[in-house]
Amino acid sequence: MGKYRSHDIGTLAAVSVGTDVQLAGWVHRVRDLGGVLFIELRDRTGIVQLVIDPVQWADATSLRQEWVVSVSGVVQAREVANPTIALGKIELRVTGMEILNRAITPAISVSDDIVVDEVLRMKYRYLDLRKPASFSRFKLRHDVSQSIRRFLDGAGFIEVETPLLTKSTPEGARDYLVPSRVHPGEFFALPQSPQLFKQLLMMSGFEKYFQIAKCFRDEDLRADRQPEFTQVDLELSFINQDEIIALVTDLLRGVFMVAGRSFPDHIPTMTYADAMSRYGVDRPDMRFGLELQNLNSAFANSEFKVFTDIISAGGHVMGIRVPNGVSLISRKVVDDLQASVASMGIKGVSWFHFQPDGITGPVVKFLSESHLKALTESTGALVGDTVLVVANPTMRTVQEALGKIRLELAQRFSLRSEADCLVWVVDFPLFEPGNNGEVMAVHHPFTAPNPEDIQWLESEPFRVRSLAYDIVWNGTEIGGGSIRISQFDLQEKVFRLLNLSEDEINAKFGFFVDALRHGTPPHGGLALGLDRLIMMLAGATSIRDVIAFPKTTAAVCPLTSAPSPVSDVQLKELSIQCLK
Ligand code: AMO
Repeated sequence: MGKYRSHDIGTLAAVSVGTDVQLAGWVHRVRDLGGVLFIELRDRTGIVQLVIDPVQWADATSLRQEWVVSVSGVVQAREVANPTIALGKIELRVTGMEILNRAITPAISVSDDIVVDEVLRMKYRYLDLRKPASFSRFKLRHDVSQSIRRFLDGAGFIEVETPLLTKSTPEGARDYLVPSRVHPGEFFALPQSPQLFKQLLMMSGFEKYFQIAKCFRDEDLRADRQPEFTQVDLELSFINQDEIIALVTDLLRGVFMVAGRSFPDHIPTMTYADAMSRYGVDRPDMRFGLELQNLNSAFANSEFKVFTDIISAGGHVMGIRVPNGVSLISRKVVDDLQASVASMGIKGVSWFHFQPDGITGPVVKFLSESHLKALTESTGALVGDTVLVVANPTMRTVQEALGKIRLELAQRFSLRSEADCLVWVVDFPLFEPGNNGEVMAVHHPFTAPNPEDIQWLESEPFRVRSLAYDIVWNGTEIGGGSIRISQFDLQEKVFRLLNLSEDEINAKFGFFVDALRHGTPPHGGLALGLDRLIMMLAGATSIRDVIAFPKTTAAVCPLTSAPSPVSDVQLKELSIQCLK
């Protein structure tokens, strides 16, 4: 194969015993048994045991972990097979050896099975990435990206790069800003997504665009969020929602195949309203039941004032039935659930245990026989079940609280089934009220209203559904998109509803509205969160595991120590004075 090796280690599985080979890699582990030296040699494709006679190869006794070597030898069967490694049945009897480089003692272990603190792993990321499991995740990422490129290329898309030094692109997060030296006091924004540019490419007549694009969002980080992440971003002209959903479903089918996972024949579609009322969240995890139930009629006119007051004031009482809850849900579990939703404005979580000799729980004494019967009938509770109930004047608060409780129960009691559940969530509202009741875009301001609801744009904006859709996998939003507004006057109207003044519209989006006036085709698109998708395909628990050089949850890079202060000279050049 080359100067240093004839084979990748992983390919030795197909090589017959007795073959002469040359390998190169890192010393993974050393066992010195005196008369014989056993060394595990690792390259990116696998690990194999080397057997070295220290009399013949005296240098070999100096080998230490992570030294880099090239060895020649003969493949032989191992006397005692090691079932824990892929090449555990063979070994290499070394007949020649060259030490290519020495290494200091590694700061962290490069074995898959040793747990290392994450900040240390990030600081020594190049060692962390040497772990065989790390490499296989990045190989998967590569394979998936290539398959997406092939699929989109085959479907007539062209890949176009859009600028990173640009103007703010509204996706709801804070911008990362880059100061301009030549225009003191002015800033570029790093794109939160290529949204505006991909729409401009539709106005440019490109018709089918895609990009595997870096996006930047300064927002609170979580296990599935990074400040800098990658989207598979696409946009098409002369297209409707169903066609985009069908296309992306096909794309995902190919991705799952590349990752060796089965893919459902059909992905169901659920409206946002259904997702909220059944699962209390717009990205439902449907691997388990525990659906929300409306209990207003069961509790109406009861003696339990907390519920009746809320119901008579137009509020909502809802619950979930937990099968066999009596044996699962202790007082402590209820307390924990209550604590987890307290910050959402929920004052209490009531519980009803359906015992063989009747219903128990703190609220039971306030309820008549007929109320208890109504509760039993409306929840379908059986003996052994528990019903957890939450009440609040606002429907959304009740739904979100029960949605959270639902997930915590599934986590605590391992209720999720093994099978993957994908769902398209559609019919999102176009707007939602902000903290002060102001109109805010749910997706982004370029999303088209559902034509059936345009009549309510001004009179009842929160009633208007949009042509936005999300693809949700096991409760994680892996992508989202929409049909866009292609009429400039409608776009201006939406900007105004979002409380942008004429001046603001011109300053922020004047160029965009202007472009819309020049003959814009109907268009729409979507972006998949590539990191999230790979994280889930790889079975990783953190998005950081599938990003080569990620930031920590404190939005820093321990390897490079970025962000870091800059010199006074640089600041002066940029006309910037730091307050801290
Ligand atoms: P959206 O904001 O929904 O849509 O983003 C699309 C997908 O990107 C992923 N994602 C993230 N992944 C990691 N870290 C983050 N901080 C992060 N934020 C989002 C999610 C999400 O579903 N321009 C629109 C797309 C469109 O309308 O075509 C957009 O960016 O998986």
